[in-house]
Amino acid sequence: MNEKTDDIILAFESSADETSAAVVKNGNTILSNVVATQIASHQRFGGIVPEVASRHHLEWINRVTEEALTKAGINDPERQLSAVAATYGPGLVGSLLVGLMAGKTFAMVHHLPFIAVNHLAGHISAANFVKATVYPALAIMVSGGHTELLWMEKENTFQIIGTTLDDAAGEAFDKVGRILGLKYPAGKEIQEMAGHGKAVIKFPIAHTEDDFDFSFSGLKSSVLNYVHHHEQVSEEFNRNDVAASFQKAVVEAITEKSRLAIEKFQPKQLLLGGGVAANLALRTAFENLSKEYKIELTEAPIKLSGDNAAMIGAAAYLNYKQRLFAPLDLNVDPSLNFARM
Ligand code: KG4
Ligand code: ZN
Repeated sequence: MNEKTDDIILAFESSADETSAAVVKNGNTILSNVVATQIASHQRFGGIVPEVASRHHLEWINRVTEEALTKAGINDPERQLSAVAATYGPGLVGSLLVGLMAGKTFAMVHHLPFIAVNHLAGHISAANFVKATVYPALAIMVSGGHTELLWMEKENTFQIIGTTLDDAAGEAFDKVGRILGLKYPAGKEIQEMAGHGKAVIKFPIAHTEDDFDFSFSGLKSSVLNYVHHHEQVSEEFNRNDVAASFQKAVVEAITEKSRLAIEKFQPKQLLLGGGVAANLALRTAFENLSKEYKIELTEAPIKLSGDNAAMIGAAAYLNYKQRLFAPLDLNVDPSLNFARM
């Protein structure tokens, strides 16, 4: 007899350069969340090297799993857990495979149902650790790989209303970081530099008309041109001002498209998630938008904005409630995304 009163899920995340396992109760309480980051191994290449990433995941997956189970006090998985979940896309194929195989194997060995989670749904579900969402909601998902405006008519439904036509917001931060000679990933350091600078340089940001799509590659090029020009003519320039001006352009682009979406779709709730959601200027801009339109905003906690398995456990719980389980022959889907509205 299973006498569980709580639903506890063991979740895995390995889509990029973090190997993570977490134990989450009822989709909103973290019992453990262990993240092994491999950033240092990729830094000298200026970005993630897929082969290096999958090798790291293989090395770390068992250790993070054991630590997550121990910290959460799980010693009898079959009795204590309700399900096992893992990210199956989007992400790097070799990286995704490690977490997905770990999840499916654990589920099989312990006779538990398996839940396949979309990484983007995971980022959005990090908000569930703060409070329950009211629907319909507009989710703003900004990470190193994605920039999406998503319409959520009800729980666990996602429709794309806007996306990036070229670089993702985090990718733009990382590329500008490279131009400024910063280490990968550069988002946090650009934010810190921006704090010491003034947004006095006009970097143009592409405004696509009448839609909710984004474009960040022109902005990156204009930062590159600005820096190259000054270096070529040996003219001094303030790197902090470049960071502040670039950050302001990105924040404005994201908030302006969100404003358009708020006016058209009239959501009851705003959700902000993804690695770039850790950006304080972006958070402030959304807090202001929330006040202006009197729409409640839930931001992913800064610590849970980047990749981690707890957010996958939160998203998995929504599937668990609907008994949306996945077969154990499920494969990874590196280009998984939601459908356009
Ligand atoms: O969600 P995430 O951890 O991985 C992906 O799924 O892509 O996002 C990583 C991205 C990187 O591009 C990183 O530079 C950016 O999030 N990031 C930030 C900040 N912290 C991380 N960007 C701007 N400001 C930050 N404080
Ligand atoms: Zn992510």
